[in-house]
Amino acid sequence: MNSPETLAHQVMGRIDELAAISETPGALTRRYLTDEHRRANHLVAGWMTAAGMAAAQDAAGNMVGRYGGAAGGPSLIIGSHLDTVVNAGKFDGMLGVLCGIACVQALHQSGRRMGYPIEVVGFADEEGVRFGTTYLGSRAITGALDPATFEQTDKDGITFRQALLDFGLDADRIGQAARRADDVMAFLELHIEQGPVLEALDRPAGAVTAINGQTRLSVTVTGEAGHAGTVPMASRRDALAVAAEGVLAVESICAQVEDVVGTVGILNTSPGAINVIPGDVNFTVDIRAKDDIARRDAVAAAIRAIRAAAEKRNCIAQVTVLHRAVSAPCSESMIAIIEKAIAAAGFEPSRMPSGAGHDAAAMAALCDVGMIFLRSDGGISHNPAERTSEADIAAGIRIMLNVLDEMEG
Ligand code: GLV
Ligand code: MN
Ligand code: MN
Repeated sequence: MNSPETLAHQVMGRIDELAAISETPGALTRRYLTDEHRRANHLVAGWMTAAGMAAAQDAAGNMVGRYGGAAGGPSLIIGSHLDTVVNAGKFDGMLGVLCGIACVQALHQSGRRMGYPIEVVGFADEEGVRFGTTYLGSRAITGALDPATFEQTDKDGITFRQALLDFGLDADRIGQAARRADDVMAFLELHIEQGPVLEALDRPAGAVTAINGQTRLSVTVTGEAGHAGTVPMASRRDALAVAAEGVLAVESICAQVEDVVGTVGILNTSPGAINVIPGDVNFTVDIRAKDDIARRDAVAAAIRAIRAAAEKRNCIAQVTVLHRAVSAPCSESMIAIIEKAIAAAGFEPSRMPSGAGHDAAAMAALCDVGMIFLRSDGGISHNPAERTSEADIAAGIRIMLNVLDEMEG
């Protein structure tokens, strides 16, 4: 059997191969239902097949590889995502899929089958960059896709429904991707930490306790475009001034509550000329917390502040909820198994919550979930400088193989 070190080296090479499939030359961007998504699925399907799995794309565009067990019964699903943010790092998501494939490859090479089937999933959309709504791939697997999401549009006005058709899929058949709870034993996700905790502890891996909930809003402010030189300050209806107050309100509201974070990541102004008062502005808000009530309170306060800023300037603010996900706890039994697996690999286990969203949060609606976090260099993520060392990836593969043994019961 290949050693975890050999497998980690192979994973590193594959990380680079996947990172070369991008919509943007010189930077990694791979959104849901694009040609690059199709090419990434094709590459991953080849690796799944070479590792002894039967590979197929499901009705939502997730790539699924299956490695049968010595007995039938429910599967352990291992997975993470293959889509990326804009100008992304190359480890976020991909690493979990590749480590899952590496573990199955190790079993296959030694002619071994676990007592249960293993499925490795490369989820099609976790980041939600294209349609603003996250976890579309994993929610299709849990059967929890809200039909309203099919009408959500990307920045070019293409609906999710149309994008599925263009990709060769059908919104009306997406239900075929759904799995039955009695067909799934548990979900295991390995992911980079994307934060500084493990590095500060000088440990390669940790067990995640819960994944924070999140709300994403789209805010459209309508004022009136006008001449920058002639319209008196008192009679302006400046939509960007409203948005600016909104951005600062999100920052101060979230800063006042422990463990609540808020971000405005996109802001577009129209008409966008140096000598024209902005008449229309659209911006996004992303608010997260481990406590669902604290998150809801912060969202409500932000919406109140945006509406008050609009009223003050005789503008109209329209708020649409793009996405809402409750905080998702990992199962105690999976946390205990992962801690044991970390210790068996020779490392000190740590428990930690996840501030970032993960497919495991959506999968928690279907089955028990557990997550292995691997140390991120400098805690950097959603940035091309994102990196996890080959030695830590080898530790992750060793830990994942230990989890597979533990799950044997
Ligand atoms: C995904 O990485 C998210 O947390 O937004
Ligand atoms: Mn991400
Ligand atoms: Mn991720």
